[in-house]
Amino acid sequence: MEEIRSRFRDDHARLGALLEQLGSAATPGDELGLLALWSVFERSVRAHIQLEERAVLPALDASHPAECRQARYEHDRLRDLISDLAALAKSGGMLRQALDQLETALEMHAKWEEATLYALADARLGAAARQRILEALGSRARD
Ligand SMILES: [Fe+2]
Ligand SMILES: [Fe+2]
Repeated sequence: MEEIRSRFRDDHARLGALLEQLGSAATPGDELGLLALWSVFERSVRAHIQLEERAVLPALDASHPAECRQARYEHDRLRDLISDLAALAKSGGMLRQALDQLETALEMHAKWEEATLYALADARLGAAARQRILEALGSRARD
């Protein structure tokens, strides 16, 4: 039973596809399109991180504190990169290099979560705790 891993992996793939779209849209001359796409991506990625911090990490904090600490640390770094890019997007100057940096950081984080955090959640949490996480994921507002 790997439902948590599989559902969150789908969400990572959705975020990755949005980021790829942003990469192709990051050409001069379409600042409005870029900003609209950025807003969708920013809302989605922040909602994903928030869901992990509200539903997944509290369920694993007591049994796996090191992994939860690492997840929160990486989330803070990701939020910094996201805020930097948000400022660039608003000034109409989305930089290819900054997008690439965020893409790399997100990919590494997602791979680690899929191998570690979600695997732990699937293997170690009881049915009720797993159900609560899946319900939180299902009821979250999506773009
Ligand atoms: Fe995460
Ligand atoms: Fe994640």
